[in-house]
Amino acid sequence: MLAVRVPKREAEKARRKLIELGVLAKGYAVRREGEFVLFPVTEEVEGFELVEAEFERLERRPHSYREVVEVPDSVKPLLPSSFDVIGDIAIIELPDELMPYGKAIGEAILKVHKHIKAVFAKGSKVEGEYRVRELIYLAGEKRTETLHRENGIRLKLDVAKVYFSPRLATERMRIFKKTRSGEVVFDMFAGVGPYSILLARKAKLVFACDLNPWAIRYLEENIRLNKAHNLVPILGDVRKVAGKLKADRVIMNLPKFADRFLREAMLSVRSGGIIHYYGFSPEEDLYSEHEARIKAVARELGFSVEFLERRKVRPYAPRQFNIAIDFRVLK
Ligand SMILES: C[S@@+](CC[C@H](N)C(=O)[O-])C[C@H]1O[C@@H](n2cnc3c(N)ncnc32)[C@H](O)[C@@H]1O
Repeated sequence: MLAVRVPKREAEKARRKLIELGVLAKGYAVRREGEFVLFPVTEEVEGFELVEAEFERLERRPHSYREVVEVPDSVKPLLPSSFDVIGDIAIIELPDELMPYGKAIGEAILKVHKHIKAVFAKGSKVEGEYRVRELIYLAGEKRTETLHRENGIRLKLDVAKVYFSPRLATERMRIFKKTRSGEVVFDMFAGVGPYSILLARKAKLVFACDLNPWAIRYLEENIRLNKAHNLVPILGDVRKVAGKLKADRVIMNLPKFADRFLREAMLSVRSGGIIHYYGFSPEEDLYSEHEARIKAVARELGFSVEFLERRKVRPYAPRQFNIAIDFRVLK
């Protein structure tokens, strides 16, 4: 094929020029020939010595498991374009039609994403008080414990025994940026500690409660891993703890049922303190129902509230969103 031949010392400058002109042929290995370098080009270029040469093709690494997976063409359009990655474990949501090909899909993910060691399919919705889901093993190591890195912290967890979503990393960073040193934080539904451990880097003291004994076991391990010694884990129902402490900032990351715990949250915040409330809402009414409930509970307690910020955190289901409302409580 057509090539440009340049002295070795001019190779980098020539390469940049050829890219700028849009004539460097992609997918080939550049060749060295004694004191010269040969670049494959797609057309004649002025100002360069042109020669004919053969080039080795570069093997293009697939970017997506969908390029290598072996499934019938009829189901290919159903292959999801993304999946969650928690530590070195991938969790994918497959429609029923793809479940018979789960093993092939899992193996394709392992082949393309070398850092992934185990693949599971979602076997149910997030359910129950502990907010966990069933997982179906597809490929790789038969293990559900992993170490996840997020926002500069390390979190050990078992994806089958506790709730964890890597999709909330940005939201957690948002709350971290708002937190001030010297604050007391109360994480009412802490899980393995993705909010608590992060906020403990800034806050004076963090109380982290969860009902799931596995979550608290991993939280304790994560306290050690991250040296978060200003964090107090509490195993049990948050209803028993709430009101017994006064925090500057309360996190209510239980979107499915947070409205049932507003009383506890408001009793646990000092006057002027802030509550980060999460909920699920239909697209057509994201905030008003939640805000009405917040105001009603405040009124029952003789408090008032000031709404500070409201935002969509992430899509949750078709036309449903996980939303966040930040508000101040005045007593
Ligand atoms: C949606 S998860 C959030 C976990 C964590 N904040 C995170 O971002 O990964 C909600 C957590 O609340 C816990 N939980 C549910 N009801 C509770 C209650 N009444 N008291 C304390 N924890 C509760 C569950 O066990 C679960 O770990």
